[in-house]
Amino acid sequence: MIVLAAGAGTRMKSRTPKILHPLGGRSMVAHALAAAAGLAPGRLAAVVRHERDLVAEHIAALDPGILIVDQDEVPGTGRAVEVALEALDAEQAAAGDHSGLTGTVVVTYGDVPLLTTELLTELVAVHEADGNAVTVLTAVLDDPTGYGRILRGEDGTVAGIREHKDATPAERAVREVNSGIYAFDAEALRTALRKVTTENAQGEKYLTDVLMIAREAGGRVEAVATHDRWQVEGANDRVQLAALAREHNRRTVEAWMRAGVTVVDPATTWIDATVRLAEDVTVKPNTQLHGATVVERDAVIGPDTTLTDVVVGEGATVKRTDGTKAEIGPGATVGPFTYLRPGTRLGAEGKIGAFYETKNAEIGRGAKLSHLGYVGDAEVGEGTNIGCGNITANYDGVHKHRTVIGAHVRTASNTVFVAPVTVGDGAYTGAGAVVRKDVPAGALALSIAPQRNAEGWTEAHRPGSPSAEAAARARAAVPDSAAGNPEPSSVASPLKKEEGK
Ligand code: UD1
Ligand code: CA
Repeated sequence: MIVLAAGAGTRMKSRTPKILHPLGGRSMVAHALAAAAGLAPGRLAAVVRHERDLVAEHIAALDPGILIVDQDEVPGTGRAVEVALEALDAEQAAAGDHSGLTGTVVVTYGDVPLLTTELLTELVAVHEADGNAVTVLTAVLDDPTGYGRILRGEDGTVAGIREHKDATPAERAVREVNSGIYAFDAEALRTALRKVTTENAQGEKYLTDVLMIAREAGGRVEAVATHDRWQVEGANDRVQLAALAREHNRRTVEAWMRAGVTVVDPATTWIDATVRLAEDVTVKPNTQLHGATVVERDAVIGPDTTLTDVVVGEGATVKRTDGTKAEIGPGATVGPFTYLRPGTRLGAEGKIGAFYETKNAEIGRGAKLSHLGYVGDAEVGEGTNIGCGNITANYDGVHKHRTVIGAHVRTASNTVFVAPVTVGDGAYTGAGAVVRKDVPAGALALSIAPQRNAEGWTEAHRPGSPSAEAAARARAAVPDSAAGNPEPSSVASPLKKEEGK
């Protein structure tokens, strides 16, 4: 099995090699290699040349078992396959077997991302059943411009392939095109490639010439036409890449719907090839699920949610959330407007509510972080309720520190935990507390000085202002005896307590 990936891909106009551009959560070449690997070939080789090191490193990271073959100065798909065949033969010879590769050799391209293992399997099945020298996958296109055309004899059998640039007007009228995907008999391929020259419009060694040569040598050459043009379409520029990405996504989303997932708006739902969803998951509009994201049964995701490498437990709800490398427990709720950063782990039935940011935080079963806050580098115990506007001050400007909050703690609004700090089980905090010292289990932590009211302060210090006028009106409406309000002149001391009756 040989995947060709040596081409330059200049029309992408990119510093990134064409085949490393992603769609559906994987690079184009990763899609091509996954389809190839699905055939369980004896050996898988990838031919590289353009941006050699970047491409080779990427392929090795996907699967170190893939044989990377360098194409030399001779251009063309024929030469690419030839060097791969030589490398595969050499590898076999190094293992003591000098007979050369035999059997079926499948060739595909690194820039054809929607090709499936199923279609390759069909191609190989026909090839082997009919004992062919070459079997080429073809498609009939409305606009065949640029492709090699399938030439057929009077009897309808495949005579060869003519490249667009070498074709006569009559040949260009043919709409059946070469996909560039083939099954070859190894020996027929090896023999034919020796006879391929570079005498053509592009001065390249064409793989397509193998068909005519193999046929002349008495081999059987056959075409298998697919009705699914997307599977043989390559991305040469970013417009084609986007079209292929949309189609890939359409297929992925449709497959999940057929597998029992409710997708409310397939057009605005993007699901990577690597994501796993259980039956009866619901995905609401404008949701993107990426990477190793897994969503368990009955969970509801979205609307407006982006999850990357997030595990969502059974029956959980996640709305208007952006999450990465996080775990959401069964029955938990997240959102709206929630930012889950790496290392967030929310326990079963827990809650991370509106306008929350979390990072590297272990939130216990049933714990609630309901509104407006930041919890980072922290542990929050089971059943604890974190009040509105609490934050963990985890960063002293140099180092990050941990906050550990026990089980069944109740923290009041605007508590600040100045880490490192520990709060024991069942403790409480007062509103606005700045918790700098550890709080023992069951204690109430207060750090705010008692409130003092400087009576009449506004009228004394902001005379004539709308506030002072409003205050005066309010005092006039309430008898002094009832409200206990002093005259403005009596407020010299702001520490004065409410006057008694
Ligand atoms: C090739 C076919 C054409 C077919 C079309 C389908 C030949 C001569 N022509 O044309 O009949 O209709 O694909 O897309 O085969 N590559 C190498 N080394 C090279 C040249 C190319 O590895 O020296 C790889 C490229 O990376 C790419 C593939 O082969 O993956 C096809 O190359 P490309 O230049 O796009 O071929 P086309 O001219 O489009
Ligand atoms: Ca091409």
